[in-house]
Amino acid sequence: MTKIRHKIAVISGKGGVGKSLVTVNLAMALAIKGRNGRVGVLDADLHGPCVPKMLGLKGERLQSGPPGIFPALGPLNMKVVSMAFLLPSDDAPVIWRGPLKMGAIRQFLSEISWGNLDYLLIDLPPGTGDESLSVLQLIPEMEGVIIVTIPSEVSQDVVKKAVSFARKMGVPILGIVENMSGMVCPHCGETIDVFSKGGGERVAKEMSVEFLGSIPLDPRISADSDEGTPFVVSHPDSTASKAFMRIVEQIEEKVK
Ligand SMILES: Nc1ncnc2c1ncn2[C@@H]1O[C@H](COP(=O)(O)OP(=O)(O)OP(=O)(O)O)[C@@H](O)[C@H]1O
Ligand SMILES: [Mg+2]
Repeated sequence: MTKIRHKIAVISGKGGVGKSLVTVNLAMALAIKGRNGRVGVLDADLHGPCVPKMLGLKGERLQSGPPGIFPALGPLNMKVVSMAFLLPSDDAPVIWRGPLKMGAIRQFLSEISWGNLDYLLIDLPPGTGDESLSVLQLIPEMEGVIIVTIPSEVSQDVVKKAVSFARKMGVPILGIVENMSGMVCPHCGETIDVFSKGGGERVAKEMSVEFLGSIPLDPRISADSDEGTPFVVSHPDSTASKAFMRIVEQIEEKVK
């Protein structure tokens, strides 16, 4: 892990808010900026790994060789490790209790030959359970966490738990990203605030955490991630991709 300069975990209080999508697109945005082969993603969602599908790596397997086990290679030579690469089939469940999960995450961190990386982004399952706890406890010199939320009040109430969790663990919070933040109607061009408005920014202010930016809902984002194409690559001129690039610039500034 000492060969990895910046380790950043992506967490949330609630599930389904777009952590995996944000992780994959931030990693790709970092790679696009001249870091071919020097960005990695660890999919630490052991029960519901989604990163391989979103990066077009479904069905891949980890390869082993003399120095250890090698990550799979995604677009721009993104180094990717996921539980999905170890399961016998796509619908095989992982039925494990805490200690086994901690062991798996420890192995992902210590026995994988990640090589020299500028950034390792870690996608976590929702909440503050075993996986999140293991990642935050086991990784030395963690740069910080990015917290993903959506604008609804239900999500904001839970995001505060994620903020308190990171603080209790003594890990810096790089900021909050609001995903699914409004949607431009493809028919009339009006913006629809599907999940209310401004919640991420409000909760950031309330908790004294930096607000990194908003990603709008866009049906093409979901379609592309289902096809395994990161949105920042397929639609670089979209509002969402520009927002991802701005978030990455802030991250680069923070870790300098
Ligand atoms: N801004 C967006 N516009 C359109 N679709 C989106 C957007 N953000 C996420 N999605 C889609 O919503 C679904 C859920 O996203 P994702 O899997 O990233 O959430 P998650 O927070 O990682 O979920 P989990 O808590 O289960 O890990 C995915 O199909 C994803 O492609
Ligand atoms: Mg996820």
